[in-house]
Amino acid sequence: MGREQWGSRAGFILAAVGSAIGLGNIWRFPYMAYENGGGAFFIPYLFAMITAGIPFMILEFSMGHKYRGSAPKTLANIHSKFQWLGWFQVGIAATIAVYYVAVIGWAISYFGMSFTQSWGQDTNTFFFKEYLALGDNSPTNLGSIQWEIAFSMLIAWAITYAAIVGGVKAGIEKASKVMMPILFIMVIVLIGRMIVLPGALEGVNYMFKPDFSKIWDVKVWAAAYGQIFFTLSIGFAIMIAYSSYLPAKSDISNNAFMTVLINCGFSILAGIMIFSVLGYMAHAQDKSITDVVTSGVGLAFVTLPAAINLLPAPYILGPLFFLALVVAGLSSHISIMEAVTSSIMDKLGWSRKKAANIAIGLGFIISMAFATNGGLLLLDLVDHFANNVGIITSCLVEIILMTWLFKIADVRDYVNGISDFRISTWFDVCLRFITPVILAIIVATKFFTLFTSGYGGYNLTLGWMLIAVLLVVSLLINAMSNKEFQ
Ligand code: ALA
Repeated sequence: MGREQWGSRAGFILAAVGSAIGLGNIWRFPYMAYENGGGAFFIPYLFAMITAGIPFMILEFSMGHKYRGSAPKTLANIHSKFQWLGWFQVGIAATIAVYYVAVIGWAISYFGMSFTQSWGQDTNTFFFKEYLALGDNSPTNLGSIQWEIAFSMLIAWAITYAAIVGGVKAGIEKASKVMMPILFIMVIVLIGRMIVLPGALEGVNYMFKPDFSKIWDVKVWAAAYGQIFFTLSIGFAIMIAYSSYLPAKSDISNNAFMTVLINCGFSILAGIMIFSVLGYMAHAQDKSITDVVTSGVGLAFVTLPAAINLLPAPYILGPLFFLALVVAGLSSHISIMEAVTSSIMDKLGWSRKKAANIAIGLGFIISMAFATNGGLLLLDLVDHFANNVGIITSCLVEIILMTWLFKIADVRDYVNGISDFRISTWFDVCLRFITPVILAIIVATKFFTLFTSGYGGYNLTLGWMLIAVLLVVSLLINAMSNKEFQ
C-alpha cells in the first residue's frame, strides 16, 4: 500500500497550522513577550522567525517530502547512522504529548466551570489548592491522581485517538478543517469584544512597549529561539511526518512561508487578546498591569478566570476563551501523537490502528503522572528539559547534519525544483551560519545555567535522566537496525 496523502493543499496547510498553533501561542507567547522586554522581544522573535523558523520549516518540509517518511525513517534514509536523531525527536514528542494533554485537560475542566465561574473569587487558591490539590508535593512525590483532571485528560486523548485512527485525510485533515476556522472565529470574536473594554488598549500597549535594555541578554534570545521552535512544531518529528504525506507535486517554500506567517500572526493576535483582558482587569481593580500579570500556567488558569469574573457576559466570553484553548491544544496534540504513531508504523510495519492503540494507550497511562497532586511540578520540570535541552539540542544537531554533512545547496535545488517561488542563498546563510552559531551559544549557556544555578529549585536528576534515557534508547534502536530502515 502506498503512503497516505493529504486530500488537498488547503488541508495540509490547515493541519500544519493546527499543529503549530497551540497552547504555546495562547498562554506561552504573551507572557514570554511580556517577560522578555515587551515590544523589544519582537526583535529577537522576528529575527529567529526569519533566520531559523522559515528556513527550518522549508528544510523539514523538504526532508519529509523527499524521503516520504516519519522522522526516524527520513533521517535513516539520509544516512543510516542518523536514525537515532529521528528517534530522539520522537522521544521528545512523546514526552511533550504526555504533559501537554494535562494542560488541555485543565482547559477542558475550566471550559465546563466557565459557564457559571464555579472557580469562585479566589482563583489562585482554587487552582492550586482545590483543583490540583497541590500540597507538600514535588516532582518525585506526586501524591494521588485527581480524578476530575484524569477524566478531562481522557476526553482529550479520545479526541486525539479518533483523529489519528481516522487516518491522514479522513481523520487529521478533517479535524483540522473543522478546528482551525472555529479557532480563528472564536479568537476574533473575543478580541472584537475585549478590545473595546475600558483599559484594554493600555494593556495591549503594555505588551508592545519596548524595554530595549533586555535586548543584549542571551536569555531573551534563548527565549525567542526556544519559542520559535516549539511554536512551529519543528525539531521534534512533527513537520517531517506531516510533510511525508504531501503529494509529489507540492509547493514546499510557499507552504512553509504560509505556515510560519499564519502561526506567528496568530501569536500576536493571542497576545492582543490576553493583554486586553489584563488591561481591563487592571482598570477595573484600579491596579497597574504589573500587579495583575502572572507568568506560566498561572496566566491561563489563575489570572484569566479572575478576569473573566469581571467581564460583561462572562458565561459567553469565558467558555469561548477556554474552548479556544482546548481546540488550539487538541490540534497540536494530534500532530504530536501522529509524529509518534507514524514512526511506529514505518518501523514495525504495523497498521495505523495497532500503532495508535499502543502509542495512545501507553501515552494515556504515563500521562496520569501529570493528573496527580504534584503533576504541575513534574510538568514544569519535564517541560523545561524537553524544550530547553531536548528540542534546542536536537535542532542544533539536525541543522549541522543537514547543512554541513550534506550540501545545503542540494536541498535548495530540490525545493526550487518543485516550488513556485525560488529560495535564494539567504537560506544557506541562515542555516549554515547564523542559526547554528546562535543555537550553539544558546545550548552552551543553557547547560551552563542548569549546572550552575539549576532550575526552579528542583532536583534536576529526573530531567537529566529523561534526556539520557531518550538518547540511549535512540542510539540502541539505531545500532540494532540494519542498513535499511527496518
Ligand atoms: N506548536 C505547538 C504549540 O505551540 C506544540 O503549542
